[in-house]
Amino acid sequence: MRLMQHKREAYWFYRFLSIFYDNYVNPLFWTEEMRDQSLELAQLDEPGLSVIDVGSGTGFTTQGIVRSVPADRITCVDQSPHQMAKAKAKSDLQGCTFRLGDAEDLPVPSDSFDRYVSAGSIEYWPNPEKGIEEAYRVIKPGGRALLIGPLEPGNWFSRFFAELWMLFPKEVEYREWFERAGFQQIESVYVKPHWHRSRTNQYGIAIAGIKPESTANPASAAREPAVVKQEEMTWGRRLKMIGRVIIGSIGGFIFIPIALLGYLYSALSGNPAKKSLNRHQIIALLVIVAIIVLIIWLS
Ligand SMILES: C[S@@+](CC[C@H](N)C(=O)[O-])C[C@H]1O[C@@H](n2cnc3c(N)ncnc32)[C@H](O)[C@@H]1O
Repeated sequence: MRLMQHKREAYWFYRFLSIFYDNYVNPLFWTEEMRDQSLELAQLDEPGLSVIDVGSGTGFTTQGIVRSVPADRITCVDQSPHQMAKAKAKSDLQGCTFRLGDAEDLPVPSDSFDRYVSAGSIEYWPNPEKGIEEAYRVIKPGGRALLIGPLEPGNWFSRFFAELWMLFPKEVEYREWFERAGFQQIESVYVKPHWHRSRTNQYGIAIAGIKPESTANPASAAREPAVVKQEEMTWGRRLKMIGRVIIGSIGGFIFIPIALLGYLYSALSGNPAKKSLNRHQIIALLVIVAIIVLIIWLS
């Protein structure tokens, strides 16, 4: 029961989350260190490369890509106009091409990019395997695709809320999807924020593979799909969607206090990799503490 692994639900989730995304969410769950470590697998080693960033959101990962590849060589695709508006406003992303579109039906021709990058988006795709087939379709033979996503949490509490919220695939699934799409020389690294303490379970994975030189993807060659197809919304479907977005968001927001407390613990326990919270996060932490105190006081 993954409530947010639907295009409509993800659209509405990001309608609101886009307001807080850069200040509160990314610095907790998808840090610059994680991004830069992951992007090494994309081998952005020549400024002439063309890159597609899928599920580009507010452009946080694109801001890592733009350090190696000029903005006018980068195409950003996301289904959320609200997330994309934030990216479009960033000064270092001026010159990027922005296209609203679906990761599972990309609005670009086959064999057209040297690199495909997608960070933190697969968890919302109803058919992740289809999204990875699209990665294969749109890169040129010899091109490289990098996908970053979460891994299934180890403890039952996190797993329950994670699964309620969205897709947290197993490492073996990522590998199978890459292999079945046709990628070769698949390699991966684990990524995690400094506050993630589990020794037995990994947090996220960056996985990359190469499309062999001699291939075109016969299933989808020369296809140029149009913009995001909208699902027909009956009243029943609307009500179901509202319920899913509300409950799914609760499932997701549970991880914010977990991460904030992880930050605090890491600072107090003298973790050498510790970081300070930004102004926005400190306010969020104080609000959470105030709510807990209020609940205890009222009960
Ligand atoms: C967690 S954000 C990641 C944003 C960005 N890659 C980053 O590094 O911060 C996930 C993004 O995936 C987008 N998304 C979800 N499902 C999508 C789909 N089917 N097609 C395109 N984008 C999608 C969301 O709109 C959101 O902006």
